Amino acid sequence: MYYKTMDYKKLFPFYDNNPGSVYLDTACMGLKPRKVIDSITRYYTHYSVCAGRAPYALSRELSDGIEESRSSVASLINARSRREIIFTRNTSESINILANIFPFKDRKRVIITEKEHNSNHCVWKKLEEEKRIKLTILDVNDDNTFNLQLFEDEMKKNDVALVSLVHISNLDGIENPIKDIAEITHRHNGLLLVDGAQSVPHARVNVQELGIDFFAFSMHKVYGPTGIGILYVRNEHFRDLALYNVGGDTIRNTYINKKTEYRSYPYRYEAGLQDFANIYACKSACEFVNEIGYEAMEERIEPLNCEFREFLRKFGEIQIIGDCDISCVKGITTFVIKKFTRLSEKNSTVGEILDRDHRIMLRTGFFCVNPFFDNRERKKLLNPAHYPPIRVSFGFYNDKSDLDILKNGLTEIIDSIKDWPVI
Ligand SMILES: Cc1ncc(COP(=O)(O)O)c(C=O)c1O
Repeated sequence: MYYKTMDYKKLFPFYDNNPGSVYLDTACMGLKPRKVIDSITRYYTHYSVCAGRAPYALSRELSDGIEESRSSVASLINARSRREIIFTRNTSESINILANIFPFKDRKRVIITEKEHNSNHCVWKKLEEEKRIKLTILDVNDDNTFNLQLFEDEMKKNDVALVSLVHISNLDGIENPIKDIAEITHRHNGLLLVDGAQSVPHARVNVQELGIDFFAFSMHKVYGPTGIGILYVRNEHFRDLALYNVGGDTIRNTYINKKTEYRSYPYRYEAGLQDFANIYACKSACEFVNEIGYEAMEERIEPLNCEFREFLRKFGEIQIIGDCDISCVKGITTFVIKKFTRLSEKNSTVGEILDRDHRIMLRTGFFCVNPFFDNRERKKLLNPAHYPPIRVSFGFYNDKSDLDILKNGLTEIIDSIKDWPVI
């Protein structure tokens, strides 16, 4: 429907209201297309009511719309049924819910890596501190790729209940070999939770083909509405999962002297009135992604990211974090300048200067992957004197002119400190 050469920015009202801005923070949040915004508006202007059990037609029509959104999300990741989709608030909440309903019985060990987002780190640390699980945090290879051998050696101990890994990292864009990981996990009788926060925006995820048991992501990164996360649970696992939040809409009936009767899944996990406006708009977000097409999106994003990495590699004073074979990298590049990069009397950082002088919106900091930085500093593979790290993440609305502005802005900054020592 849309073409490679198309000015995709026209589909996003953000650019009408922020002309000249160079948005390079899509790993944090995808911009919202008009189609999704219209859908949210339609909820408020046309429906405004609750979905669920009301007898009036408008509410029933909205209920259908909510279930159509559930079906669209299920199709997007090739789940077998819409009933495998639980609506949550975001990836973090999806992982927290799963961690709290997962049946840790004979096996208590969970495996993650040092490169997980805090959303897939803190909850396991918390359960470990509460002595509910045993946690193993694996290092990744020095080039940031997944260490399959180390993983398999751990799995051979045959005591792992759950493996919980990022699919595509928000630090370096590197994709983990999930199909191989799933195969090894299942061979040793474990189950696999995948954090897909960065994969659904970049690639067609097929949870069945990849062999994923549980999958978490956020619609706000897939050019969809804010406030909606997804927890996919493979059908057959539901029967073993505990309850979590309970109350309105999770029940069939409640009694004074008898046990509560709960609804079936996924509804028993969606307590209380939901964020109907944003759930309703998920259908439009999925349609939008399908209309553009993952191939077309990556045809735009990948060359930009490749060219940017090539540009950075020309500077001896720049260290790309996770500088590996570009074929496994999606749309994200993080780097440090090996100098003191507090650049002015006012201690402006590179990110602040790029915003002030060129309206470039990118990120500096630790991108919620603090354990990775902690480990790398200890191994002397990163030097805190070079911080803050700088992250550029592309969306398919970015184009060559965005990249040129970024390259010019960075060249100006690097030139301005060319006499400073590399440390
Ligand atoms: C890989 C990864 N996991 C988890 C999250 C957390 O997502 P949310 O803030 O929507 O819960 C993010 C957000 O940046 C992410 O990139």
